[in-house]
Amino acid sequence: MVTMAAPDRSTKPQHRFDDRVALVTGGASGIGAATCELLAHAGAQVWVADFDLASALALADRLVAAGAQAQAIALDVTDPQQVKNVVQACWQRHARLDIAVNNAGISQSVNGLLQTPRSQWSDVMGVNLEGVWNCLQAELAVMAPARSGAIVNVSSRAGLVGHPQVAVYTASKHAVVGLTRSAALEFAPLGIRVNAVCPGLVRTPFVERKLGERLEEVSRSANPLGRAADPMEIAESIAWLCSDAASYVVGVALLVDGGALAGGSTGK
Ligand code: NAI
Repeated sequence: MVTMAAPDRSTKPQHRFDDRVALVTGGASGIGAATCELLAHAGAQVWVADFDLASALALADRLVAAGAQAQAIALDVTDPQQVKNVVQACWQRHARLDIAVNNAGISQSVNGLLQTPRSQWSDVMGVNLEGVWNCLQAELAVMAPARSGAIVNVSSRAGLVGHPQVAVYTASKHAVVGLTRSAALEFAPLGIRVNAVCPGLVRTPFVERKLGERLEEVSRSANPLGRAADPMEIAESIAWLCSDAASYVVGVALLVDGGALAGGSTGK
């Protein structure tokens, strides 16, 4: 099979975010890091919020050294008070929050439903679902009075179709789509757009940890492109959803999976 490679990313950003303030959770790695890079190089003031402060600091330093505006902040999205504090810190510094990307997420170990320990339920739901819920509550509380903002929740292809052996992860990502649509309906009249992005297989540390040596083989058969996405290809979709170019896009769960679901299969 001839695979269509990811395009050269040395080109200029598609959309500008000058004077905008963006908060990206799970911003230190993978899709979140690519989103921070893209938004920062397109003019946004980016808050790289992550559990892993050392990696967040390293990314923010790299962006600042390249002439962009970024800062790192420690955040565990499972703690509603921490989430509120980060949003408040952002608000106090800039008196605005234009963009929020609720991206932090974890995987589960591949297991039959009956073999899945209860701890996986609370761990995965705590980060993937309650984390997004905590972020939405804090972000919308400041965006609503300002009557403006764009939020993107990172769901997954597993937010749209079932996946055996990862039922808890799949349930968490379906719930993120439900939260997204409900929040979108409630807040669109206030000028705030809430959307979700649903990536297929993306080559990130998350997937490298999960698939290990099987990554190449799985990537080849994952979709008609025959490869995993580059994190920047997902970041581009997120940035578009956050941009004024998507001003009429509300409550969508945007599938970005290299065509895996186009035929109605799970891509195998
Ligand atoms: P990653 O593991 O490379 O990055 C996730 C980041 O989230 C890490 O920096 C980690 O420190 C941070 N994080 C984890 N728990 C946190 C918490 N409680 N509070 C704050 N930060 C926390 O993962 P990747 O692949 O970039 O995934 C990002 C999102 O994309 C996740 O929500 C994941 O479910 C979703 N996704 C990933 C796909 C893939 O193939 N890589 C496919 C579909 C969805």
